[in-house]
Amino acid sequence: MAIKVAINGYGTIGKRVADAVDAQDDMELVGVTKTSPSFGCELAQRKGFPLFCTSDSAASIAAFATGGFECHGGISDLLALADIVIDCSPGITGDENIARYRGAGKKFIFQGGEKHALTGQSFSSSANYSENLGVAGTRVVSCNTTGLSRTLVPLYEACGSLKVECTMIRRAADPGDSTKGPINAIKPVLEVPSHHGPDVMTVKPEIEINSLAVAVPTTIMHVHSIIADLPEGHGMSTDSVLEMWKATPRVIVMSGVENRITSTAEVMEMARDIGRKWGDLHEIFVWEDGVSLLGDRLYYFQAIHQESDVIPENVDAIRALMGVESDWRASVAKTDAAIKAYYGI
Ligand SMILES: NC(=O)c1ccc[n+]([C@@H]2O[C@H](COP(=O)([O-])OP(=O)(O)OC[C@H]3O[C@@H](n4cnc5c(N)ncnc54)[C@H](OP(=O)(O)O)[C@@H]3O)[C@@H](O)[C@H]2O)c1
Repeated sequence: MAIKVAINGYGTIGKRVADAVDAQDDMELVGVTKTSPSFGCELAQRKGFPLFCTSDSAASIAAFATGGFECHGGISDLLALADIVIDCSPGITGDENIARYRGAGKKFIFQGGEKHALTGQSFSSSANYSENLGVAGTRVVSCNTTGLSRTLVPLYEACGSLKVECTMIRRAADPGDSTKGPINAIKPVLEVPSHHGPDVMTVKPEIEINSLAVAVPTTIMHVHSIIADLPEGHGMSTDSVLEMWKATPRVIVMSGVENRITSTAEVMEMARDIGRKWGDLHEIFVWEDGVSLLGDRLYYFQAIHQESDVIPENVDAIRALMGVESDWRASVAKTDAAIKAYYGI
């Protein structure tokens, strides 16, 4: 029987997770929520996703009809239909929402805007899928932590230990966000280390990692500049690291110079060519010519499409929590094949 999935919050992440869940033959999307009848309701209705309200207030539910949308009820009505809820709220309502999910006896998955402490469990498909098998709730780590895990976990597994320093060059705002800056400055995050690197240790505590972050005036991707110290006698070369990542799910390795993809602008143009909705790129992009292993020290750059790398991870997290697939690679293959078929690519 298909796993019944509710999505609480149909914004940037929620609408993408909704499509990814709708694509899976072992899952059924039972509904999505909005706070009020704003843009996004029309998309849900067009896709045939039942629309619910984030609250149970009768006035809030009634407001949807005034806005011309059919609302099927409040969050409690939606939870009653679901086996599991994916919380895609803005990352500030976690305490209230987790109490609601626990009260309804439903499994739950939060996003990286919430702290690890909220759930006491975090998730990254390649790093700790098996630790999440059958648990009541988890948090899919942020876009940056997901990106770091994708390339560092296989490296750690090949070498046995790893010490990492990285600088996160962060986009200032989501493409759909008109409220954030900077627009003419480079803004260091005055929290050292930044939370990004250490967050990797919530899914792979064996990797020693610290990070710095700077926000720059772009909206399309983050770039990570990474230095990883491999243990003595690691036996790796630049070529073997590249081969390893080429064989890693959800990592794309391409020569920037040969392909004329030398910046995030061209990476995003390539992503739009691929044909996933919204021009998304679920994979982490590694510039082949930006990778160099000098002695025991590995240098590389990677680019992260912030709104979309976590999307297939949410689907894998559903399978882990529901205990229907124990092998992370099998879940990843199933998730990705279904998404590709859904978009006809
Ligand atoms: N955006 C990214 O690039 C990105 C990447 C990775 C992880 N994340 C994380 O994903 C989460 C969602 O971020 P987002 O960018 O998708 O936010 P968003 O675009 O602002 O969407 C948030 C959605 O949650 C709804 N909402 C508001 N209050 C709610 C509540 N109390 N309960 C449930 N839903 C509520 C909003 O409803 P209305 O539409 O009616 O306002 C909206 O649909 C955050 O934890 C964020 O840190 C974001």
